[in-house]
Amino acid sequence: MSGALGEFVADEPALLVDNKGRRYLINLEPDKQYHSHAGFVPYTDIIGKPEGVQVATTKGQKFRVFRPTMNDYVLQMKRGAQVIYPKDIAAILMMADVYPGARVFETGVGSGAMSMALLRAGASVTGYEVREDFLARARKNVEGFLGPDVIDRYRVHVADAYEGVDFGKPGLVEGDPMFDRFVLDLPEPWQVIAHAPKTLRPGGIIVAYTPSITQAQQVRRSFNNGQYDEVSTTEVLYRTWHIEGQAVRPDHRMVGHTAFLTRGRLVGPKLDVVETEPEPAAEDPGVGEPVVDEV
Ligand SMILES: C[S@@+](CC[C@H](N)C(=O)[O-])C[C@H]1O[C@@H](n2cnc3c(N)ncnc32)[C@H](O)[C@@H]1O
Repeated sequence: MSGALGEFVADEPALLVDNKGRRYLINLEPDKQYHSHAGFVPYTDIIGKPEGVQVATTKGQKFRVFRPTMNDYVLQMKRGAQVIYPKDIAAILMMADVYPGARVFETGVGSGAMSMALLRAGASVTGYEVREDFLARARKNVEGFLGPDVIDRYRVHVADAYEGVDFGKPGLVEGDPMFDRFVLDLPEPWQVIAHAPKTLRPGGIIVAYTPSITQAQQVRRSFNNGQYDEVSTTEVLYRTWHIEGQAVRPDHRMVGHTAFLTRGRLVGPKLDVVETEPEPAAEDPGVGEPVVDEV
């Protein structure tokens, strides 16, 4: 499992990095090898070695071996659906204020990239995904990176999120609001926002990830019914720099656009306003009489 300390063990993910910075995600199955045009590296050369070890293929191509970061894993893992880009995953964790023990409703689950970040931040995730094959992939990815123990906090179902939360599903009990946060990445998040107040607690936060600004506008309209406060829309621009000797400048390439992140916070019930007698007005000095400050 990634994040473990000490030497590499069999069946955990590892990252091979060559001298040009190219990265290859592998799983250390003891009877397998990494093959390239320059020969192969048996995984038994890596198992039992410390992180950062250098290995070489049978024809001398060298690689450093590290445990993959979540960023590496998300970009290299097998995908069903398109994943949320890591720069946006990081921002969503902060905008949704995800904390250990938070009960998060996530939909669509897709390839499980967002799920991984929520689980690693300590949340319990209830996820809805319409495609069974994507859900199976998400479970594999999550378990492959975070290990089997996390699955207790990952309750995902094949279900249409537009139809509401089905209390008949295992692990869900009707009663008090069950979720602290909603994280939405599906074509029409406003269809989920419409039923969110039934299961999101007051003060709970919704973040919707939408590639297009017209979707973001529609999300904003759905927050615009008096039930939501602290509404904002953000785009995360992420630019790396080239720094080598005197050549110091932004990198030529950057990811131009991924999506807009729109956030809203559910308000609580209005308190009854107690009518009070108005304070008596200060005495009117009278028209025409100049008000003179006492000296
Ligand atoms: C872009 S992907 C989500 C990727 C995911 N956030 C990740 O980081 O891996 C959108 C997903 O929404 C799912 N989806 C679309 N409509 C849905 C619905 N009504 N209910 C549940 N899931 C839905 C799709 O099947 C797809 O897997």
